[in-house]
Amino acid sequence: MCGIVGYVGPQDALDVVLEGLRRLEYRGYDSAGVAVRIGDGASGELASAKKAGKLANLEKLLADSPLPASTIGIGHTRWATHGGPTDRNAHPHLSADGRVAVIHNGIIENFAALRTECERRGVEFASDTDTEVTAHLLAVAYDELPAGPDRFAEAMRVVCRRLEGAFTLVATHADEPDTLVAARRNSPLVVGIGETADGTAEYFLGSDVAAFIAHTREARELGQDQVVEIDRTRGLSVTDFSGAPAEPTAYTVDWDAAAAEKGGYDWFMLKEIAEQPRAVADTLLGRLGENGQLVLDEVRLSDQDLRDIDKVFVVACGTAYHAGLIAKYAIEHWTRIPVEVEVASEFRYRDPVLDRSTLVVVISQSGETMDTLMALRHAKDQKARVLAICNANGSTIPRESDAVLYTHAGPEVAVASTKGFLTQVVACYLVGLFLAQVRGIKYEDEVAAIVEDLRGLPDQVAQVLEQMEPVRALGRSLADSNTILFLGRHVAFPVALEGALKLKELAYIHAEGFAAGELKHGPIALIDEGTPVVVVVPSPRSRESVHGKVVSNIQEVRARGARTIVIAEEGDEDVVPYADHIIRVPRTPTLLAPVVTTVPLQVLACEIADTRGYDVDQPRNLAKSVTVE
Ligand code: M6R
Repeated sequence: MCGIVGYVGPQDALDVVLEGLRRLEYRGYDSAGVAVRIGDGASGELASAKKAGKLANLEKLLADSPLPASTIGIGHTRWATHGGPTDRNAHPHLSADGRVAVIHNGIIENFAALRTECERRGVEFASDTDTEVTAHLLAVAYDELPAGPDRFAEAMRVVCRRLEGAFTLVATHADEPDTLVAARRNSPLVVGIGETADGTAEYFLGSDVAAFIAHTREARELGQDQVVEIDRTRGLSVTDFSGAPAEPTAYTVDWDAAAAEKGGYDWFMLKEIAEQPRAVADTLLGRLGENGQLVLDEVRLSDQDLRDIDKVFVVACGTAYHAGLIAKYAIEHWTRIPVEVEVASEFRYRDPVLDRSTLVVVISQSGETMDTLMALRHAKDQKARVLAICNANGSTIPRESDAVLYTHAGPEVAVASTKGFLTQVVACYLVGLFLAQVRGIKYEDEVAAIVEDLRGLPDQVAQVLEQMEPVRALGRSLADSNTILFLGRHVAFPVALEGALKLKELAYIHAEGFAAGELKHGPIALIDEGTPVVVVVPSPRSRESVHGKVVSNIQEVRARGARTIVIAEEGDEDVVPYADHIIRVPRTPTLLAPVVTTVPLQVLACEIADTRGYDVDQPRNLAKSVTVE
């Protein structure tokens, strides 16, 4: 949602913070702001700058009116929740006396009561945000505490104990020349520990490790309801909200700054699309054992736990939900366990039937999506087992799950998920096959063959990518469309949904995905002369002649004037007479086909958005990880 950076060390804080914000801008780009602490000795001042719009606006402001040099600073990039995306509502927010500056990610649910309390004391608010109360409360708490090394952290703990909702807070104080304090509840915060070339220690805070990856890969993961202090000389100390010491979990980030650069591509999305063969290969790496056996070391559920499962729920949001829809087809077929798939924001509110023998698979690229996290917690409250499929090491969702299967996509910066999705789908296959393996397999030969087929996926994705030039040309020709429809059956139905979502979020074109067989029950009325309809065709080898039915669906829409864009397997000649455009994909077993058929839809959406002149990496109104419900 919002991006947060903090720095204490020998370098120029503003440089470090702005560089971190550039890497975190994908988390929100409604406004950006920074604050630094200036002055020698114990009593200094804060200087801050903030601006609505993208980070570039703030950078221009700072170029025109530079802030004084400092070695301690904080920065924020915002996705607006409370209060519009204006200069006034941009973070940091300052206390009434200007001694405290705070940045925040999340929502403070009891802010209204706290605001009234502050106003009764005579505080005049300078913004419409929920965040600003924390700056005023922190200033009061600090002033009421005796001087001492723990004063700032204790003030933060005093404030946190009064807050409800979700928050990551980072604060700087004019009287604290060496210390930043931060806190987290239900929102992400990681600490980076580095050293400059001359051996001086430096400390970083970030919403995720991208904030400091250019400086260090040594990270500390914080737990729920913890306060952290980073101090130039005392280093790092962590407590819970009551002040009891806590031990953060140390880990080393397994990617470097280059992985979070565009690497010569115009857009991060294009780079991430191109990385998919590697991402799929890395997700499979070390997990396909000899003789068709799967090796999933991170699954911390016993074989008996897995044998006891009689129902699976897959719960996720957006693109990850589409991966879950594909998982249903695969897991049910391979394991014969019933699978339900549900958007996380609906899951817990309808009181689903869960117990010890239910496996809930939560899928999240970021590991921070609040809807998914809340669904996970509900599942655990109901005693269900929770397995997370996640890309972000150190994030909240895997930490709170009983087991985790990491996708190894590497950092995904573009807001539209691409390699995140493909690797989620692959991870779902691994979960399905693993369950089948542990529980005994109905289609033994088929499952063993599928394990071998998985090995071929990276090359098949690479083959698709080699043939994308005509898809780009097609995208340019579709850029003026008002509506584009996507059809699919069986596993191609979620692919159609994903194709439509990509187009909506990037190109702002009305797009809908339909189960191809449902079209005749209503949506076919949408088709007009020239309406583009993308049809994802299953393999001619798919069961129960789904292929033939989809070919009929193509004819039906064409007969009503549609411009048909057909994604079909190499050698499928049945579609040729009815396709205005054909996009070929390699022959792939039916259940694995989404890994190849999705790729042209990603490229198509990216090209259409680019042609329309939109920011492909940072579409309007969106943020990469949605850390509010
Ligand atoms: O980080 P997550 O996988 O939990 O995110 C879920 C969705 O917010 C995400 O997939 C979203 O739909 C993307 N913008 C899709 O491209």
